Amino acid sequence: MPEPINLPAELIVVTGASSGIGRATAQRLAADGFHVLAGVRNTEDAAKLASRNIEPVILDITDADTLRALAIRVADDEGGRPLRAVVNNAGIAVNGPVESVPLDEWRRQFEVGVIGQIAVTQALMPALLAKGGRVINIGSLGSKVSMPGFGPYSAAKFAMEAVNDALRREMAPFGLSVVMITPGAVSTGMTEQGLKTIRRLAQLMTREQHGRHDKLIDAVEAQVETFARDGVKPEVAAAVVSRAISARTPRTRYMVGRDAAVLARIVRFIPARLLDRMLRSQMGLA
Ligand SMILES: NC(=O)c1ccc[n+]([C@@H]2O[C@H](COP(=O)([O-])OP(=O)(O)OC[C@H]3O[C@@H](n4cnc5c(N)ncnc54)[C@H](OP(=O)(O)O)[C@@H]3O)[C@@H](O)[C@H]2O)c1
Repeated sequence: MPEPINLPAELIVVTGASSGIGRATAQRLAADGFHVLAGVRNTEDAAKLASRNIEPVILDITDADTLRALAIRVADDEGGRPLRAVVNNAGIAVNGPVESVPLDEWRRQFEVGVIGQIAVTQALMPALLAKGGRVINIGSLGSKVSMPGFGPYSAAKFAMEAVNDALRREMAPFGLSVVMITPGAVSTGMTEQGLKTIRRLAQLMTREQHGRHDKLIDAVEAQVETFARDGVKPEVAAAVVSRAISARTPRTRYMVGRDAAVLARIVRFIPARLLDRMLRSQMGLA
């Protein structure tokens, strides 16, 4: 007689699971014993990710049809399993000087980084409320300090802090926990994507903007490469997500990496103009 297989008792949705923090988180939560619905945007990534306790689902968080399909998949789960948590992880990095990043690129950053996160949360809210679920938002140190050249990305992450806090305060009476995870630098594919984007956008700058910002663009590229080199592995972030999901009473915020823990604390006490000088000098712009 074959051994009876214990099916995972609870579902978790992870967005942006094709790479980086999302993939490590899906794998970690599957190993923790959850059934993970892992959001990916194409069938190749789905095939690579599928494994025990990981069920890839096609999900573009800016696409209403795939969001609807996800909500139906969760609601119609064959085992009637509850949704323990959604991990709002999917993200992109649009970087460049505020004055030159085209408005459509600002919109794209906000569409994915803010509206998409809210759309996923809204789509899954009935399932999350059914059994005291959790919303885990993956923030960034970029929401604590807005570095020159990182305006669009930081703006979206700052906005998500507000969304996160409002949601937590609104939904606590209904048993929903809302948690912000703030990683510092993590070595992932975001480096490559961010570099490609800033180089593409730099080509659209006017001659005057080039005159003002070429040094800044170089500094942003160098900074992104430093983040990638010095960043922690995505598994470190995944372990923190796992803790936030498994804790009986999760904290409202978790930091990932020493850079995040230290910087997030000290920037609150440094006068703005001193911080301006420190950041410019650290990027070699002073
Ligand atoms: N890396 C860092 O240093 C760092 C630091 C702090 C916070 N974070 C945050 O961590 C999260 C994950 O980033 P990562 O570093 O792991 O980067 P990553 O490896 O580039 O992963 C980003 C993921 O988001 C997905 N994605 C992008 N647009 C999407 C959309 N419209 N719908 C659904 N999925 C979409 C990507 O899918 P495709 O493969 O299909 O593009 C990919 O799976 C992000 O929210 C990021 O802001 C990263």
